[in-house]
Amino acid sequence: MAAGAAARREPGPGPGGEKRILCVGLVCLDIISVVEAYPAEDSDIRCVSQRWQRGGNASNSCTVLALLGAPCAFMGSLAPGHAADFVLADLQRYGVDVGHAVPQPAGCLPTSVVIANASRGTRTILHAHGNLPDVTAHDFELVDFSQYKWIHWEARNAAEQAAMMRRVERYNRDQPAAERVRTSVEVEKPREELLPLLGLAHVVFISKDVARHFGYQSAPEALQGLHSRIQPGATLICAWAEEGADAIGPSGELVHSDAFPPETLVDTLGAGDTFNAAVIFALSAGRTLQDALTFGCQIAGRKCGIQGFDGIV
Ligand code: FRU
Repeated sequence: MAAGAAARREPGPGPGGEKRILCVGLVCLDIISVVEAYPAEDSDIRCVSQRWQRGGNASNSCTVLALLGAPCAFMGSLAPGHAADFVLADLQRYGVDVGHAVPQPAGCLPTSVVIANASRGTRTILHAHGNLPDVTAHDFELVDFSQYKWIHWEARNAAEQAAMMRRVERYNRDQPAAERVRTSVEVEKPREELLPLLGLAHVVFISKDVARHFGYQSAPEALQGLHSRIQPGATLICAWAEEGADAIGPSGELVHSDAFPPETLVDTLGAGDTFNAAVIFALSAGRTLQDALTFGCQIAGRKCGIQGFDGIV
């Protein structure tokens, strides 16, 4: 058990003794204005609808995991105030364990104003960071790994997150295979300091943005080019919107799934987070990489056909 774990009582395994999936990263408030057409600058228009929704990649992935029926937990920073109360209550409403949400004494909850264009399914995100520090390797010491089968990171504060991943690796070294915690990381933003994280997880998700940053024009090209950056035996996955997703598995096998676009593209906010969660859900249940990739594309496609996440299953 982790040093200091006594300070945080894990709620015990999920129903049927199932271990949980932990997602580490951002929770924020998304203020979403659904519009019929993207507004012109300096115009004054009416929205079709407007809503508050809990956002942030790790938090969205928790929503999807919970909807899929996986016991899961969220770890990330929370600021004091109404917005944080809203997102915390919403995590709890979905049954996501929030025992590792870290209250910060200062800063504001990050907030995104999102213009969701209903006629094209695009989402334009204006994100305010809120000066909230991210959770640290020290916070992570409170996690009792015996309660988790999988830990996923949304790449943010890379040095601290690398230390967290190394701690999991050290733990795994002393465990029998069945007790080891599997790890994944999503590198979505093409920021140099995040790249070392590619080499530290068992499953690595890279975005189209990251692939393009390296000059690749397709997912298979990006996988070939970036494969040397992941650890031996790891899996590299790259989703490419309407092109579907590709992956290289532990023994170098190439896998592809087409996309499953909905009849009408309604809302793409969080589609990538949905894909990641569905892939993790399937892999953590022992399904093959091909199955997991196909499932990820199916669930992400379903998400794009509805507003928000309720109704993906
Ligand atoms: C979607 C999302 C939103 C959030 C933004 C932060 O992937 O997590 O919920 O506002 O990205 O970058």
